[in-house]
Amino acid sequence: MTADELRSKYVDFFVSKGHVQIEGKSLIPDNDPTVLFTTAGMHPLVPYLLGQEHPAGKRLVDYQKCIRTGDIDSVGDPGHLTFFEMLGNWSLGDYFKDGAIRMSFEFLTSPQWLGIPVEKLGVTVFAGDENAGRDEESAAAWKALGIPEERIRYLPKEDNWWGPAGTTGPCGPDTEMFYDFGKEPCGPDCGPGCSCGKWLEIWNDVFMQYNKTAEGNYEPLARTCVDTGMGIERTITILNGKKSVYETDIFAPIIGGIERALAGGGGDGTERERSIRIISDHVRSAVFILGDPKAVSPSNVGAGYVLRRLIRRAVRHCRKLGIAGSPLLSPLAGIVVDSFKGPYPELTEKLPSIIEELDREEEKFLETLQKGEHEFEKLLPNLLKDPRGIMSGRLAFKLYDTYGFPIELTEELAGERGMAVNRAEFDEAFKKHQELSRAGGEQAFKGGLQDHSQIATRYHTATHLLHQALRLVLGDHVAQKGSNITAERMRFDFSHPAPMTGEEIQRVEDMVNEQIRRDLPVSMEIMDLDRAKASGAVALFGEKYESQVKVYTIGESGTGIFSKEVCGGPHVERTGTLGTFKIQKEQSSSAGVRRIRAVLE
Ligand code: ALA
Repeated sequence: MTADELRSKYVDFFVSKGHVQIEGKSLIPDNDPTVLFTTAGMHPLVPYLLGQEHPAGKRLVDYQKCIRTGDIDSVGDPGHLTFFEMLGNWSLGDYFKDGAIRMSFEFLTSPQWLGIPVEKLGVTVFAGDENAGRDEESAAAWKALGIPEERIRYLPKEDNWWGPAGTTGPCGPDTEMFYDFGKEPCGPDCGPGCSCGKWLEIWNDVFMQYNKTAEGNYEPLARTCVDTGMGIERTITILNGKKSVYETDIFAPIIGGIERALAGGGGDGTERERSIRIISDHVRSAVFILGDPKAVSPSNVGAGYVLRRLIRRAVRHCRKLGIAGSPLLSPLAGIVVDSFKGPYPELTEKLPSIIEELDREEEKFLETLQKGEHEFEKLLPNLLKDPRGIMSGRLAFKLYDTYGFPIELTEELAGERGMAVNRAEFDEAFKKHQELSRAGGEQAFKGGLQDHSQIATRYHTATHLLHQALRLVLGDHVAQKGSNITAERMRFDFSHPAPMTGEEIQRVEDMVNEQIRRDLPVSMEIMDLDRAKASGAVALFGEKYESQVKVYTIGESGTGIFSKEVCGGPHVERTGTLGTFKIQKEQSSSAGVRRIRAVLE
């Protein structure tokens, strides 16, 4: 079965069970200070899991592009990826444990769908703790369907709980489904969930029952929900009898491209294979980040830094394999775009800019790499004298600062020579020299849930006011190009050909504050996308919307509507709660795009 067939089967199955297919969303989340990328299919659905009504109804299905960089150093092993696709079905206050498990079981085992033999499956369920009881209900549902007791394993929160790590949000126990590769158990405790290589997790059904509060309490949700995630790459691996995701048809075109460039060269077995896997994974991720409607460019902060790391690491492994010629990555990018053009048509549209960005970053890196590697080799004799095999963090920082070596690359180069880098010392030097410490970014790499705190909601509403004020002051050509909210500030990118004058900035700021003083009501209506557009609601160009959308209106028809936008929310109820709006900076973001940084005080 191909990935395209699996995507269609999954959607068809859940549509046949009363679900509505919704569009997967951008890889770069909007207005979410807690993550740099969409890390799971549920991510864009958090407001609905917390109780908001979804315009498409209570049963939803989709496929979602995701990036997780927490395991980036393990990429190269048979199962680790930074970019992957997640199939998901949701119940928003509709079916719960029994219904979800029955559907998962039918899709996995029915010959009409995936036809996986029942004896190849094993599951895990939540063992229970002080916050929530042992999940006997899920276990009973699996038993009733024919999963024997010895292949149902009860595991603690670390394994069988999905939700916010250290933050607030919807969460609950989950039940995970594993495929048995048929290897001998690694010991008496080996069972589903064991990481010895016998079992591969393919699907997770999460039962959202609680909202974790800032105080760390688990409050029952008024409406229980189901969130599920099936990994396309892993499922294709087992359906086709492969041992690794990299052996599947999903990776065949790009790995074929790398092999052609290598023409039989590239050194010995395992290291060669690892480098090929790293290049293919990282190029895929970079293509999807650069091909996203909200694409970022390589930079030294946030998502741009992750992108830079991925590109640079891929280039380095191309060089390690001895691939000659230039450019190295963009020909591979073309292959990725071609093999994903069906489900992700946006990639084809963006191919020219993907190539341009990759080539530019590659060129920049090759220049610095030559200098940096030379410098690294010069440092080596002294470093190797260190009996503990620790490279000083200050030297690592020098390589970063002077030669643009990402610290992870220095760590990798050091690791190849049996050394480690003093990371704490590097971090200290880094903090001293950089206004924007990457510490915040590191937190965000790990994933998490949206911050729906009041402060983010206030900024979200202020974004609509700012957008409209800019259109009124500068003209209708102003269109939102991006937006980002943290607990401290909002950032708004928009199309406009010239820097704003001081007077324009003042007028925009005053206009927003005027709407705040008027204490306008904010209302929401669900309608057809076409009707929304016809009614004059502003929609983002290039964004994918469902056929039914939410339209947020600020103001009333009697006293004057100020703004009307298609948006997922959430928003405040009245503008009077926003405080005072202040524009701190107006600057260029990219060609023809300006960026405003503003605060609510
Ligand atoms: N949100 C769940 C996961 O990503 C389904 O595993």
